[in-house]
Amino acid sequence: MDRQLLLGQTLAFTADPFADGPAAARHSARGAVLLDGGQIAEVGEADALRAAHPDVPVTDHGQGLILPGFVDAHMHYPQTGIVASWGKRLIDWLNGYTFPEEMKLADPAYAAEVAERTLDLAIAHGTTTLLSYCTIHPASVEAFFTAAEARGMRVAAGRTCMDRDTAPEGLRDTAQSAYDESKALLETWHGRGRATYAITPRFSPTSTEAQLEALGALWAEHPDCLMQTHLSEQTDEIDWVLGMYPDCEDYLATYEKHGLIGERAVFGHAIHLTERERARLVETGAGLAHCPTSNTFIGSGLFDLAGLQAAGARIGLATDTGGGSNFSMLRTMGAAYEIAQLRGTALHPSQLLWLATEGSARLLHQEGIGRLAPGAEADLIVLDLASTPAIAQRATRAGDIWEALFPTIMMGDDRAVAATYVAGRRLKG
Ligand code: GUN
Ligand code: ZN
Repeated sequence: MDRQLLLGQTLAFTADPFADGPAAARHSARGAVLLDGGQIAEVGEADALRAAHPDVPVTDHGQGLILPGFVDAHMHYPQTGIVASWGKRLIDWLNGYTFPEEMKLADPAYAAEVAERTLDLAIAHGTTTLLSYCTIHPASVEAFFTAAEARGMRVAAGRTCMDRDTAPEGLRDTAQSAYDESKALLETWHGRGRATYAITPRFSPTSTEAQLEALGALWAEHPDCLMQTHLSEQTDEIDWVLGMYPDCEDYLATYEKHGLIGERAVFGHAIHLTERERARLVETGAGLAHCPTSNTFIGSGLFDLAGLQAAGARIGLATDTGGGSNFSMLRTMGAAYEIAQLRGTALHPSQLLWLATEGSARLLHQEGIGRLAPGAEADLIVLDLASTPAIAQRATRAGDIWEALFPTIMMGDDRAVAATYVAGRRLKG
């Protein structure tokens, strides 16, 4: 692929806004990004880069804000069709909507259709990388990676494993089949093109200890894979886990006991943590996927982002669709802001943006994405900061780029995403 020059506003982090505040990002009102195939070659001022590269074709995005694509650090692509389903609590919601829908992905043609629809929705919403759960069916994993490969997307995913009788017949495997099928899938997909495999025990309540042990062993054999699961989402879920694992002092211990903790672990939710769990998560460098729209939608609770961040936890942002109620990482940032407000912290827009890009990318150990910087992969979006009349009338009063961006964070959706580039190819706009 050839070189191309994108013009627009640019906003690039040079440091961590949780440490350095908004000064951690550099804004250019008339910036430029030089792409060389699937990579970012240079980021600078429009006039300077045009003069330096007079023969490179130019796409002028005007006032559009060029950013890295969003990274969704925890979602369930099989649940796309049941997003925003009315329900009560987590376990009712899983039994009433999620499990019946996941059974339908036994049909490989349906799995392929949902995978393609999910990734097209992601691109429309400016999400260029996702870490997704699949279902128990190997074909659901094949479908997701195949659809991502066709679009050139960097994704991570894995076969969801459940062998306890708390999971319904039809969505149940065994410790051995979970190990064997996960292993076969990771041998095919991990590191192929832009794919990363994530070993995926759904959560302790649907796995036997034998299954957690088998998946811990598989991860020890393939330590460069990710491992994703759920942790301490709801208080009644925690009571359920402690009843099932009487020799474990807390929820996290059910994973630790089987080697399911470490730097490449991504724990979804992690809301109701004990002091010991917090300390262990920080100590081991495990990742936490904050799922704010899901946590309000299913009524799970208020994640302690400020406290965990200050303690040194590694945190990214995620939709958790279909438990999350929206595909938009903008809406997800807005919900993270609201939850932090309810806990007494006003997150700055720079912190919200960082979580949705570089923070989530780091959680996935994908340092090549989530950054607007030379050498990074060219997964980019262009935001229209006046995408609806309501946003536009507020944005006209903005005194700086953060004030201009914040109304889009709070009120924006896929209409705010003017363009999406995946590995330098324009797939939206
Ligand atoms: N815990 C276990 N499985 C799920 C799921 O699919 N969604 C959510 N939100 N929580 C879970
Ligand atoms: Zn989830």
